[in-house]
Amino acid sequence: MTKVIRTISNDILVENICFIPTMGSLHNGHLSLVDLGKKTNLKTLVSIFLNRRQFNDIKDFENYPNQLDSDVQKLYDRGVDYIFVPEEDYIYPSSGIETVSPNEIGRVLEGYSRPGHFEGVLTVVKRLFDLIQPSYSVFGKKDAQQLFLIKNMIREFNLNIQIIEGDIVRDKNGLALSSRNNHLSSTAKLKASCIFDSLLKTAESISSNKDYEEAIKEGSKNFVKNEIVLDYLELVDTENFKSPSKYSKKLKLLIAAYVENIRLIDNVDIEL
Ligand code: PAJ
Repeated sequence: MTKVIRTISNDILVENICFIPTMGSLHNGHLSLVDLGKKTNLKTLVSIFLNRRQFNDIKDFENYPNQLDSDVQKLYDRGVDYIFVPEEDYIYPSSGIETVSPNEIGRVLEGYSRPGHFEGVLTVVKRLFDLIQPSYSVFGKKDAQQLFLIKNMIREFNLNIQIIEGDIVRDKNGLALSSRNNHLSSTAKLKASCIFDSLLKTAESISSNKDYEEAIKEGSKNFVKNEIVLDYLELVDTENFKSPSKYSKKLKLLIAAYVENIRLIDNVDIEL
């Protein structure tokens, strides 16, 4: 039986929980994380909390789609045990909570373009972890840098939480599912579908070409050709999120780009 809860009571704390945090407006990407969570056979708890603190742009926060009723229905249908929909002052009581700042990796890529974003993410995720005390928690690889920083935070605070990583779920044209896709017109959606294709092409030339800079420079032309405005297209070593070295074995090619003013992110893995 699915229960919608507003607070975390002691009878939840005594259970072994697999926790899936979200900001709502759920799509099949989120639901794939729920399915991974259910495989643990623990009680699943999905939070829906639109975290104001991680939005560096207030307009983005205000325009974020709110579909609580249909979200709850989707989670009922999935057989989730708890749907946690906290009020803002439960997460951020006036007495204050600990702020968590990211390390230097929180200041590059998404962190560079969205100042304060990762501090907002880590602060809310730590707060949710403290409240829920889960054994497992599921995050998507779509937000690769977020996932990297959360794993770091778990190590730094010595938290006893196992992370499960969910693959990126895409639509039939390859566009990574995102709540922001709701804002795309049908032409914009078509343009945005080129992102994955061009990422794969660039990744291919990176694996066959030792001159990464050249491969990225060439690759970026594909995006521009399709009217995709790049914020960044960058390659990192998956292990440390820094520029690849000659010892790197696994790389990640990350993109943030605007399609008709909607900011989208995506990434692909490259094995050398
Ligand atoms: P939100 O954007 O709602 O995403 C919730 C989870 O769904 C994240 O772990 C994200 O990586 C994952 N996700 C989103 N799109 C996906 C896709 N296409 N395929 C697979 N997984 C996908 O990320 C956040 O919320 C917030 O920052 C949060 C962690 C909840 C803290 O507020």
